[in-house]
Amino acid sequence: MHATIFGTGYVGLVTGVCLAEIGHDVVCVDIDAGKVERLRKGEIPIFEPGLEELAERNIGAGRISFTTDAAEGIAASDILFIAVGTPPDDDGSADLTYVLEVARTIGRHMARPSIVVNKSTVPVGTADKVRSAIAEELAARSVDMAFDVVSNPEFLKEGDAVNDCMRPDRIVIGASDATSVEQLRRLYGPFVRNHDRFVCMDVRSAELTKYAANAMLATKISFMNEIASVAEHVGADVEMVRLGIGSDPRIGWHFIYPGAGYGGSCLPKDVQALARIAQAHGVEPQLLDAVESVNHRQKGHLFDLIQRHYAGGSLAGKTFAVWGLAFKPNTDDMREASSRRLMEQLWDAGATVRAFDPEAMDETRRIYGDREGLVLCDSDYAAAEGADALVIVTEWKQFRSGDFKRLQRMVKDRVIFDGRNLYPPQQVEGAGLAYYGIGRGRSV
Ligand code: UGA
Repeated sequence: MHATIFGTGYVGLVTGVCLAEIGHDVVCVDIDAGKVERLRKGEIPIFEPGLEELAERNIGAGRISFTTDAAEGIAASDILFIAVGTPPDDDGSADLTYVLEVARTIGRHMARPSIVVNKSTVPVGTADKVRSAIAEELAARSVDMAFDVVSNPEFLKEGDAVNDCMRPDRIVIGASDATSVEQLRRLYGPFVRNHDRFVCMDVRSAELTKYAANAMLATKISFMNEIASVAEHVGADVEMVRLGIGSDPRIGWHFIYPGAGYGGSCLPKDVQALARIAQAHGVEPQLLDAVESVNHRQKGHLFDLIQRHYAGGSLAGKTFAVWGLAFKPNTDDMREASSRRLMEQLWDAGATVRAFDPEAMDETRRIYGDREGLVLCDSDYAAAEGADALVIVTEWKQFRSGDFKRLQRMVKDRVIFDGRNLYPPQQVEGAGLAYYGIGRGRSV
């Protein structure tokens, strides 16, 4: 089958490459000529395990191509995906400018009956706006042509996106037209050959499903972070509590890891956008607002622990090694990363940061440039060398087995602030270092 995808960001690119991998002919359209040029050469602008080799193979086989020419993309296929960004507006609601611009472009060039599939995360009711935008452009051309608008939200996780796309746990299709559903079932069928993973529903329910999924995940994290705060104050260890509750299958093991707060381009944005949708429809988003404010507090928690350790004394002139800058492991993405708040708090307090991340050094350089107070280091232990304290913000695998004897010699104030609870406190303390984790009451 043929598919055209508008937007070569995270979702569009991964979806396009994976559809090509299962044998479809894919055209990806983007307005950024430089990006299209690089993609044609197989240069992938994001760090995503497995994506580059998959892209190279499918570019080589001629199954995927990249263009800035929207008309060419629309002519190539009758299944047209919209996978462009929906950045937050000033008040946190999703900005539909790019989505509706693609819709108008489709309306201007559509030459045969088509299915327009929206993959961008959009407020409930957006499919209707997309439909109107296309219809207006068709009318302006005096063209009467059938088309359908379908909602097909995306559930990819950064760092595991290829796997999520090739082996989805569900494919949500929101459509009112049975033919559209049938076409998408055929398109996606090879991903779910042995299981029926399709969940078909009406368009608005599909649109809401996407927000509900991310908001639920964020809620679990903020809940655990709040329990962690309670644990710190009552002298309990949240890691024990996690083991105790995760074993209940109704609660489950996923997304109950307390930490330095959730970040990334999706959870923070989608919780806020859903809250604005609720408000716009007269529903007070009490829980969503709380999820968001707990997360805001949590992102400042490592700094609070640092201040507590130094008993409120000045941090000016102190140097902190920061391990992990990306918002989570296996990505170089630093959008809404907890490391950013921490580093900015440390700089405001007059401290210096010696930072290391296995993938996000270029991104850090791009964001902060030659900022005073930031030293970019080549390795984790190079960052720790000569620092007064070590702070772990992202749980990259290589940080998991810390050499505490070595750190004890390197870190002058002999203290580790573990924002992801990687280490057993006794082991760290046994090596002669003070230890602070998240929700580990015994250390307060
Ligand atoms: C999230 C969802 O997990 C995907 O299903 C969804 O498709 C995606 O958003 C999207 O809307 O595009 P992603 O942003 O890549 O994926 O990252 P997550 O793995 O969800 O992690 C988000 C944040 O939560 C990270 O900062 C992570 O460190 C934090 N987290 C996660 C915790 O603090 N505790 C946990 O137990 C799990």
